[in-house]
Amino acid sequence: MSQYQTILTETADGVATITLNRPEALNALNMQVLTDVTDAAAAFDADPEVKAIVITGSGRAFAAGADIKEMKDLDFATAYKADWFAGWRRLTGVRTPIIAAVNGFALGGGCELAMMADILIASSKAKFGQPEINLGVLPGMGGSQRLTRAVGKAKAMDMCLTGRMMDAQEAERSGLAARVVEPEALMDTAYEIAGTIAKKSAVATMLVKEAVNLAFETTLEQGLNFERRLFHSSLATNDQVEGMSAFVEKRDPNFTDS
Ligand code: CAA
Repeated sequence: MSQYQTILTETADGVATITLNRPEALNALNMQVLTDVTDAAAAFDADPEVKAIVITGSGRAFAAGADIKEMKDLDFATAYKADWFAGWRRLTGVRTPIIAAVNGFALGGGCELAMMADILIASSKAKFGQPEINLGVLPGMGGSQRLTRAVGKAKAMDMCLTGRMMDAQEAERSGLAARVVEPEALMDTAYEIAGTIAKKSAVATMLVKEAVNLAFETTLEQGLNFERRLFHSSLATNDQVEGMSAFVEKRDPNFTDS
């Protein structure tokens, strides 16, 4: 029996999948989902066989937000003392590349969860939004920050102040989604991307993730310095020797993540 109550997990060919599995509640993110997703992601991150992680939803939703029924009676002191939602930081601490395959509604915490991934792929039927304003609150899992960085102030304000939904095409145009594909092609595309990443050096993919994420935390000059130092460091890896030798010898590289 699975150790998780709200998600399904599987692993194949170096790619792990986490499927949110509360379709009756449109995969609303209650505290059990937070625990299950972050435990599973941390376990996959610690597994050297897992080179990429795909997170997806089920039924009509990726996730329709934090669980409103769970939050309805939540008061300030309880939420503040427990630092409600801070547990999601375990997911953004994962060093293995994460792909969000957004199949349907990605609203509130659902949109925020998708934005925690490194690459966001959307089905043409996906709908994104930060409708917390309709509930008398504001985003609490990163929406005001990650959405603004992804799509800029104009659209982030539009979404967060009106609560309107954005379709997949607009999400791609705005820089929120990396790709939009037909619903039937969503998982194949996610696995194709994950499989491509899984064939790279895991050291190099972690370095990329660290470098790109730093772009949101630092000045350009500091970021460029950091990137250059990471590049210098990459010259100390066996995979750099293998990758460049394979290119010169016109063969496929055989990376060993070392
Ligand atoms: N929390 C708890 N339950 C939810 C939910 C949520 N966020 N979203 C949907 N559900 C439940 C519904 O209550 C319903 O359950 P019952 O059958 O037991 O009543 C079931 O999922 C199906 O939903 P609907 O009947 O509403 O389906 P619909 O097709 O009519 O509407 C929808 C779909 C537009 C997505 C609508 O469900 C909706 O607006 N959901 C809430 C979206 C939302 O406000 N999300 C933000 C939550 S707050 C947040 O996320 C804070 C944060 O930043 C972390």
